[in-house]
Amino acid sequence: MSGSSIIGWGSSLPDKIVTNFDLEKVLDTNNDWIVERTGIRERHIGGTTESLATQAATEAVKQAGIGLDEYGGLILATTTPDKTTPGTSAAVHKNIGISGFAFDINAACAGFIYSFVVGHQLVKALNKPIVVVGSDTLSTITDMTDRTTAILLADGAGALIIAPNDNNDCLLSFDLQVDGNLEDILYCNLGGYLKMNGKEVFKKAIRAAEKSALKVTEQAGFTMADISLLVPHQANQRIMDSLCERLSIPREKCASVIESTGNTSSASIPLALVDSIKKGSLQSGDLILMTGFGAGMTWGSALIKWS
Ligand code: COA
Repeated sequence: MSGSSIIGWGSSLPDKIVTNFDLEKVLDTNNDWIVERTGIRERHIGGTTESLATQAATEAVKQAGIGLDEYGGLILATTTPDKTTPGTSAAVHKNIGISGFAFDINAACAGFIYSFVVGHQLVKALNKPIVVVGSDTLSTITDMTDRTTAILLADGAGALIIAPNDNNDCLLSFDLQVDGNLEDILYCNLGGYLKMNGKEVFKKAIRAAEKSALKVTEQAGFTMADISLLVPHQANQRIMDSLCERLSIPREKCASVIESTGNTSSASIPLALVDSIKKGSLQSGDLILMTGFGAGMTWGSALIKWS
């Protein structure tokens, strides 16, 4: 086996939907402002990081159809683990009943990109399939009286199975970055609520994602015209629109679920990707460009060939 491919996918959102109109009742905000400034109309709130991750991973593992004892392990990207220790990945691993290792990665909203890249290296090293999950319950670290964050943050999970195969690699190039000097624009102290300088995050996120997306595309010998689907972190529709414009990628080639999910951190990229897969938007050979950014400040991109 010398190559790799994505052979399973799943997603999960809590049943409870909180609309902008619900938020109007408890916060000094309104639907029009939220839609215009963020693109969000509603978000799902509830569950635990473990329960959402288990649901998404169970769906993905079922679809992959590989024996549970053949797995190399599971990586869970999360900013909101249910416990300090053990890692939430251990519980998810137990719940889905696969073999191998399990560990958490906290790279904030870039977490799924980090996990996908690390997971891909382990698929190659172990020659075994790996479950990669992004799951977050941002509602557990949201101050519901702070209108600048409460309108954005939400809960959800998405999962992919990466497996070895005889063909080419699905991961063509990647870029993982962090700048710890930017911690103060987005952070959450232990036991506290997420604090954010929205304007600074907005500006820095767009620049970082643009540079990173260009880098991985060029690294693999392609141009933006070759990209079939851009899957950015779902933080704000205006950030995604600006990214499309700067990269000269048409809006219809950008996966977006933010209108109904809000910002689900590590879950946002797999939720958007799985949504596109389920809609049948992808064909064999398509190039998928995932790009994300978050607290740290972390950012990164991964270019994938769909097969
Ligand atoms: N409802 C109504 N008005 C609001 C509001 C809300 N929820 N939040 C802020 N406002 C007000 C502000 O007080 C300000 O009023 P003023 O002009 O009277 O001072 C006005 O709206 C504009 O605020 P501003 O902060 O300039 O808005 P913005 O266009 O920058 O949008 C964010 C705010 C948070 C939506 C935007 O900055 C953002 O999305 N940033 C990135 C956040 C992000 O990506 N975080 C996660 C990264 S992983």
